[in-house]
Formats: sequence, C-alpha cells, structure tokens
Amino acid sequence: MAMENAGAVSGAGFFDLHNHILWDVDDGASSPVESLELVRGLMRLGFVGAAPSPHSWSDRAECAARLNGLRELLAQNALSFSLAENAENVASPEDVMALLDGRGRTVAGGRWFLMELPLAAPVPALPNILAMIARSNHSALIAHPERCLHFQAAFDAAFEALDAGAFLQLDVMSLAGAYGRRVQRLAEELLDESAYAVAATDIHSTRDLPALTSSLFRLRERVPDDEVTRLLTANPQRVLTGQAQLL
Ligand SMILES: [Fe+2]
Repeated sequence: MAMENAGAVSGAGFFDLHNHILWDVDDGASSPVESLELVRGLMRLGFVGAAPSPHSWSDRAECAARLNGLRELLAQNALSFSLAENAENVASPEDVMALLDGRGRTVAGGRWFLMELPLAAPVPALPNILAMIARSNHSALIAHPERCLHFQAAFDAAFEALDAGAFLQLDVMSLAGAYGRRVQRLAEELLDESAYAVAATDIHSTRDLPALTSSLFRLRERVPDDEVTRLLTANPQRVLTGQAQLL
C-alpha cells in the first residue's frame, strides 16, 4: 500500500515527512475538519503528499485507522494528496528495540526511522544507538536537531551523527523563529553547512499555517531552488521509496 502511495508522488511537488495532521491521535489535529484544513494548507504551499508522523506513544492501530479515515475524507472532498504511514519515534530503548526486532514504526513500512531526541537533555548513547540502527539495515532520520539540546550544546554533534550514518531533518518553522532565536540560528548554520537531508513541517494545528508559510519563504530566501527541491521533494521521495542513499 505504501509503495502505491509513493508512486502517486510525481513532479516537483513537496512531500512532508513529519507532521501531526491525523486527528485525535496525539497533540496534533483535533478533528477531521482540522485535518482537512491542514491538508488544504499544505497543498496551497506546494505539497502533494505527506507521511503523517504521530508520536510513538499514540496507539498504532488507531493511527492506521485514522490514516485510512483521512484518505477517505480526502477522496470525498476530491483532494489529490498522497498519504503514507509513519511515526515520530523517540531515541528510547523501547522504540529502538522495536525497530531492531522488525516491529518499528517506519516510513511507509520501509527502512527509514524518524526519530526525535529529548529537547532538553543530551543523549550520550546516541552514537551507539545510531550504530545499532545502521547495522540493522535501517536508516535514522533525526527530527529537528536544531531544537534539541544534544545538538545545541555542541555544533560537531550534528556531524558526528552524520558520520554514524544518520540523516538530519530540518523543521522549516525553526527558520521563522517559531522556537526562538537560538533554534533559528542553529537551523540557519546547519542549513548553510548543507547538513540537512530533508526539510519537513512538523505542523500540529491550523494555527501553525501562517508561520509555516513565512518559514518556506525564509527557506527560499536562504538557499537556491535546487536545494529546496533536494530537501522537500527529491530526498523525501527517496525516503518514501526506501532508498538507502540520499542526495
Ligand atoms: Fe513532530
């Protein structure tokens, strides 16, 4: 099913690998109406699909049902917007062991594991965690490193993660100052170093849409068009289709 969805994505459209647009499963959208408005908002900004990523504490079966519910809702409203399964995992023994045991909540059921770190605590075991993930033939996509103390505390930490086989996902709203100046500055520095492989929205609510709109302007101002395409179209499609190598 996931690969059929992947095939539906074509052309230069953006694909969002991190958001909370499924209603009533986590701290994201609160109703079908809000989910629909979020999809409409994403489509206006150039997105052709998404892999909604409920927090891994959400019930997996409920998330799967909600994904199908959103697909039905989009069809009823004649909206062409591709959806694939995903989750926002954490760098915890529970989530990582599930991945290593073949029960991980991955992008489209494939090799890619979207994983966030604690926002306010370093993760000394991160190199070991990333080594285990790499040995298991999975690929870690680290969510919004610019928002995590582990990366704020030492600029080299981002490059150590890259050396350990991980890839980094920019939260585009960091560029609009949605999480403060410190986060914005680190996002800009990592962007200037081409350290990110993917950009995504992490959108939770229709209240986020104005900030998301301005953040995409900021991204376009800061990097050339081909870098925007790499971050929001080409690499997300490679993740979606399970390719190990990103551009
Ligand atoms: Fe998220």
